[in-house]
Amino acid sequence: MATIKAAILGFGTVGQGIYHILKERKQELLEKLGVELEVAKILVTDASKERVQNTLHLMTESIEDVLAEPGLHVVFEAIVNEEPAFSYLKRAVEHKCHVITANKVMFAKRGQELEQLAKEHGVGVGYEASVAGGVPVIKTLKNILLVNNAQRIQGILNGTTNFILTKMRIENVPFEEALSEAQRLGYAEADPYNDVSGQDAFKKLMILSSLAFGEQPNWAEIEVIGVDTISQTDMEAANLQNLRYRHVAEIERLADGTLVGKVTPLLVDNVHPLYSIDDVNNAVTVDTDYIGTITLVGPGAGMYPTASVMVEDYAAIMLKGVGQAVSI
Ligand code: NAP
Ligand code: HSE
Repeated sequence: MATIKAAILGFGTVGQGIYHILKERKQELLEKLGVELEVAKILVTDASKERVQNTLHLMTESIEDVLAEPGLHVVFEAIVNEEPAFSYLKRAVEHKCHVITANKVMFAKRGQELEQLAKEHGVGVGYEASVAGGVPVIKTLKNILLVNNAQRIQGILNGTTNFILTKMRIENVPFEEALSEAQRLGYAEADPYNDVSGQDAFKKLMILSSLAFGEQPNWAEIEVIGVDTISQTDMEAANLQNLRYRHVAEIERLADGTLVGKVTPLLVDNVHPLYSIDDVNNAVTVDTDYIGTITLVGPGAGMYPTASVMVEDYAAIMLKGVGQAVSI
């Protein structure tokens, strides 16, 4: 039986979820993949912090110390911001490690570069967790867009804001209190301004744009409005009309080839497909030329939905063949 080694960069909500799932599914993964995966190193900024998962593998040294681990084959990345995440994954790829990321800030900007580099080095890149948490939107688009052309994508791409809007509407909970609960549940970004301002949904929309349309629009031309503009009075007025606030991201290819998009709160009525999407759920609706319209719905944030799709990415890369140029 072969054993390969993994490193986890970041050991917060997502990193600890990966560690837990790899431990809990160790035997099943061994049977399905024919290799055992051992987590050898975990990079954090503060190794003395109290955590739910106890492990002796925490370290605060450099990425080079992580990559020095003999037999290291896979790097899971669950830290924050573009840097040092991109540089770390670039080094991992150059070191011939498969890389799996949840980091949409990094991937929206540097994803295509990372995928190109991975191709050159014959390793896989998994980024399912970077968009819509546990909802398998990346692998679905990869499967259906081999033949179909995407025309428009619309959805709720941020779990924290949908959770806040739901709490405000159903329980009359003030915005700040709902946000604190989303933070406690591990849904929010390290800096929750990214969630409530719409920047997190915007980055996810740009990742979907690259995948579905092969390019991104000029970022400066995309209108991004957060949910922090919605008051309790607005919410009550919407309730009285049986309307619901949703934070909607959308991008569309116009007939002249231009890509237009926006991220903005929208009042939807009870026949709108996003009307019933509550709590931390996300929904992604894709209009295509042959299939027509499909919608995927599920948990858009949280430890286990997010971490499990990263472990699914790992399994998919291994099943496609170690050392092959795969981007799943
Ligand atoms: P988190 O709980 O804040 O954890 C971040 C972790 O990264 C912490 O363990 C921190 O170390 C570590 N870290 C930060 N900068 C580092 C650096 N320069 N070097 C080494 N370690 C560093 O965040 P999270 O919620 O797990 O999110 C992680 C990533 O996943 C983010 O990119 C986020 O956007 C993405 N994501 C999150 C979710 C979710 O539901 N939470 C869902 C999808 C995607 P310390 O612990 O020592 O401070
Ligand atoms: N903070 C993000 C959200 C995590 O709430 O959607 C998932 O990307």
